[in-house]
Amino acid sequence: METRHKFIFKDARRLSHLDNESIDLVVTSPPYPMIEMWDGVFARQNPRIAQFLEEGDYLNAFEAMHSILDDVWQELFRVMKNGAFACINIGDATRTINNRFQLFANHSRIQKKCFELGFDVLPLILWRKQTNAPNKFMGSGMLPAGAYVTLEHEYILIFRKGKKRIFASPEEKLNRRRSSFFWEERNSWFSDVWDFKGIRQEMNDKELRDRSAAFPFLLPFRLINMYSVFGDTVLDPFLGTGTTALAAIAAGRNSVGYEIDESFAVHVKKMIEKEKFNLNNYNLQRLKKHIIFTEEYAKEKGPLKYTNNYFGFPVMTRQEKDLMLVFVKNVEEIENGILKVSYFEHDYVKNLPINKDAALEHLELKRGVQQSLVI
Ligand SMILES: C[S@@+](CC[C@H](N)C(=O)[O-])C[C@H]1O[C@@H](n2cnc3c(N)ncnc32)[C@H](O)[C@@H]1O
Repeated sequence: METRHKFIFKDARRLSHLDNESIDLVVTSPPYPMIEMWDGVFARQNPRIAQFLEEGDYLNAFEAMHSILDDVWQELFRVMKNGAFACINIGDATRTINNRFQLFANHSRIQKKCFELGFDVLPLILWRKQTNAPNKFMGSGMLPAGAYVTLEHEYILIFRKGKKRIFASPEEKLNRRRSSFFWEERNSWFSDVWDFKGIRQEMNDKELRDRSAAFPFLLPFRLINMYSVFGDTVLDPFLGTGTTALAAIAAGRNSVGYEIDESFAVHVKKMIEKEKFNLNNYNLQRLKKHIIFTEEYAKEKGPLKYTNNYFGFPVMTRQEKDLMLVFVKNVEEIENGILKVSYFEHDYVKNLPINKDAALEHLELKRGVQQSLVI
């Protein structure tokens, strides 16, 4: 198996390298309107934004920033296949302008636009990001009628273009079954509140990730596993440091990324070079967690009914019998801005012990497996 990953350092308002209906999934996080760190990025794309902000005209500033994003959402609708999902991570903003402290509800503005564009709006995920910062409470302290609740969450908006995707041929059906996730993963991934508290921001240099507001690897990794199958093409129109591309590599999907800031090109390249083999830890960790789950479940409720055809361990449902995971074998740059990735399949973990203690020991031997990862 092989995948390709393409990086295009251009404005995503025109996805001119992409054909109509060529994309299977979008996972992205745009710059957040009305959050100060992104003012300059928006103003460079529409200079009137700087003027609106200077004049305290928050209504027009908010609208002008969103109208840049609107053009991207419209392009997504063009390039996505029927039945494809789009997952958009966005936070609301709070800001004082003209001495008025207000919430700017980015998530509802984007939902409204995508609804108007013809996307089906699906239940969203609240990504809880608890903070312990000493200044987290704003306003009048302990005195009533002047304090504000703290924003400690962001959103993952979920949309679909058109009706449910159809997997018609026997090959498509098998590929879908091979791309399935574990029963216990379904139970936590498809909850509407995600809490990644406590996970280490494990990749890349922290300063760069802060500057680019990168999301944690697990966010695109989960979404890609939830909403696409092996060999699909995932698009991130706001690529930043390339987290979505990394997650697509780890999950055995192709990817395309657009990014307006060309200075990220060198960082994306460096990060993929540095992380390419660490990526296998995520799927190893999924296996490890599954083996632990099966033992604990068996102890409490009796053995699981089915056996996985590739790994030989028990699984909860018939749908997981063909579940497969892929492991990166090699990453090479075949052209400037295009990577080719080859994979090991289940043979990467052949002789996987199905006993919990042995599994732990075996997997621990794989260099760099991180105990604390939440998958
Ligand atoms: C929130 S960051 C994305 C971070 C990314 N998810 C990561 O993990 O690194 C948003 C990115 O969108 C880029 N951007 C802003 N406007 C753009 C546009 N019109 N087209 C393409 N990229 C754009 C910014 O330069 C920034 O890198």
